[in-house]
Amino acid sequence: MDAMEQALDQLARMWAEFGEALGEAASTQQLEALRVRFLGKKGELTGILRGMGALPADLRPLMGARANEVRTDMESALESRRLDLADQETRLRMMQERLDVTLPGCPTPMGCRHPLTQVIDEICGIFMGMGYAIAEGPEVEYDRYNFEMLNIPAGHPSRDTQDTFYIGETVLLRTQTSPVQVRVMETTPPPIRIVCPGRVYRSDAIDATHSAIFHQIEGLVVDEGVTMGDLIGSLRLFAKGLFGAGTEIRVRPHHFPFTEPSAEVDVSCWTCGGSGCRTCKGEGWIEVLGAGMVHPKVLAGCGIDSERYSGFAFGIGIERTAMARFGIDDMRHLYDNDMRFLAQFR
Ligand code: DAH
Repeated sequence: MDAMEQALDQLARMWAEFGEALGEAASTQQLEALRVRFLGKKGELTGILRGMGALPADLRPLMGARANEVRTDMESALESRRLDLADQETRLRMMQERLDVTLPGCPTPMGCRHPLTQVIDEICGIFMGMGYAIAEGPEVEYDRYNFEMLNIPAGHPSRDTQDTFYIGETVLLRTQTSPVQVRVMETTPPPIRIVCPGRVYRSDAIDATHSAIFHQIEGLVVDEGVTMGDLIGSLRLFAKGLFGAGTEIRVRPHHFPFTEPSAEVDVSCWTCGGSGCRTCKGEGWIEVLGAGMVHPKVLAGCGIDSERYSGFAFGIGIERTAMARFGIDDMRHLYDNDMRFLAQFR
């Protein structure tokens, strides 16, 4: 066999081997390995071409042309097999990754507003319906706003029942939402019609009906010719809105330093309608708020002409209202964040 025959024979054997290996390749990955093995820089075809140096010079182009044909054939065979395999692989992957869209999903548990927030929102909604705006004030408050300007000077006995947490000599955690009245009256000329929901603080021991942190909603109306009749009418509308159309209110004389006259207001028990039951502890009535006509001294202190203007104010205890409303027997439930309790207010 001369050198040319030998080289062609080598080429033919390689082609046969390639054909066999191609038939066996089962993945595009194996196909790539095959390409490297036969056509790569150190591959078999390159090896054969290198051996061409041994051929007589006139035969080399012939042999080169033949080798290039073989390369082209190999390349196109590889490519068409690659397309087939890639197609198979895609189909297989699509089978394996198939999603069953009818499977039930992972439910996201829905929360709900805290019962205190529900009551605050509801009360604010009722007063907004009567034309009141919402106002807010700071929880860290000056003694001046929390007491002094509400006609509760240093040494006044009602400071005893409203002991609080002091930040400094003149700064404290507010004991009531009433200081917001003062802040609004100082900066807003009448007519004023606001409600102020917020958190308040007292240095009280915590038990089933007391907490050192609780909530109030303050109300204030100042205009010309505002009377006690307006106060009672507004509170009656509020009580009916929150506790039901059949609800009545009862106004009892009381004393607050910043209102004159002052009153405590009860609503008829929504459980028994007034005949007496466990909810109202046999009374038929439940106390929910304090109220009165804004003291002329308080108006004047805020720069409002108390000869021309009059006003009424009220303060609603949110915890007490929520407890009564939802039949909650212990105030501490409201702060425990126990889901078994909170989930009942969906
Ligand atoms: N601030 C009073 C309290 O915490 C409640 C109150 C009573 C507010 C009468 C008022 C009011 O605005 O007029 O006990």
